[in-house]
Amino acid sequence: MQKLTITRPDDWHLHLRDGAALKAVLPHTVRQFARAIVMPNLKPPVRSVVDAAAYRDRIIAAIPAGKQFEPLMTLYLTDNTSPADIIAAKASQFVKAVKYYPAGATTNSDFGVTDIRKCDPVFKAMEQVDMPLLLHGEVADRDVDMFDREKVFIEKQLLPLKQRFPNLRVVLEHITTSDAVQFVLAAHNIAATITPQHLLFNRNSLFKGGIRPHFYCLPILKREEHRQALLQAAISGNPKFFLGTDSAPHSRDSKENSCGCAGCYSALHAMELYAEVFEHADALDKLEAFASFYGPDFYQLPRNTEQITLAKTTWRIPDEVPFTESGLVPLRAGQEMTWQMA
Ligand code: NCD
Ligand code: ZN
Repeated sequence: MQKLTITRPDDWHLHLRDGAALKAVLPHTVRQFARAIVMPNLKPPVRSVVDAAAYRDRIIAAIPAGKQFEPLMTLYLTDNTSPADIIAAKASQFVKAVKYYPAGATTNSDFGVTDIRKCDPVFKAMEQVDMPLLLHGEVADRDVDMFDREKVFIEKQLLPLKQRFPNLRVVLEHITTSDAVQFVLAAHNIAATITPQHLLFNRNSLFKGGIRPHFYCLPILKREEHRQALLQAAISGNPKFFLGTDSAPHSRDSKENSCGCAGCYSALHAMELYAEVFEHADALDKLEAFASFYGPDFYQLPRNTEQITLAKTTWRIPDEVPFTESGLVPLRAGQEMTWQMA
């Protein structure tokens, strides 16, 4: 196959940042995606409908002239989020979900939840108004091994949460393990997003000839058997699994650092990366539904009607793209791609 035309996709998990960083990265997403679920982990986080409305306005102002893009907003769940915040979010129409980060688990998560059970009144309100809960599905407990934090979260927190709120619609974000795949397959009212990096790489990529900070994201890359399980889920045609890049830009300085930030930048070439994954798995026919149908179906939004075309050509991913004071290194920088969006 030399050309692939599909319905325009959406990105169901994206970090856009703010200010100059937002202006630098947004055009990359807009080139490929019609909509994106925008993560609220700014400093300080997006906690109220008022915060979300202002952030949405800043995103819309940064859309390149003549382009169409719809930011779908989220609220950052804290220990202080109230059921009234949920009612207001639902009424806003533009807040589409609430994001749970365990305190201290990842970038800008200091405001995160200290004990998930404290949020039960909020989850009850979310269940009642049918507001999806998006999970950073890791425990933040330093006594739990880094590579086990997703599995332990599923057993200790997600399973009981689903028992307490069976009708709460949940997205387990950026899944990284076969445990997550199995859980999502078995449970009701739950879906999962899968990133390009977790489909393309296993944890060996973090240490190839030395430490490779641009492959460091959270949840961290896992063993090959887990990558295989994610790949099978992505190409299975099961609507519970859909596209979410978790593109998370950090400047080169803050990645190539003695304490480097977590996050891979894939918004530059996300659809091309996914196309390569699906082609290598002999499943290009499954890409459209994964990228363009199952996400809107879960969020109860209309599917996009326009189309995009990907063509088979070789091009080199730049070493760096302009960002803030220091540049931004895209995922797999300097390497060749075999698909390109027209
Ligand atoms: C994200 C970021 O940088 O905002 N980083 C990451 O590694 N995925 C935060 C997150 O989603 O965990
Ligand atoms: Zn994320």
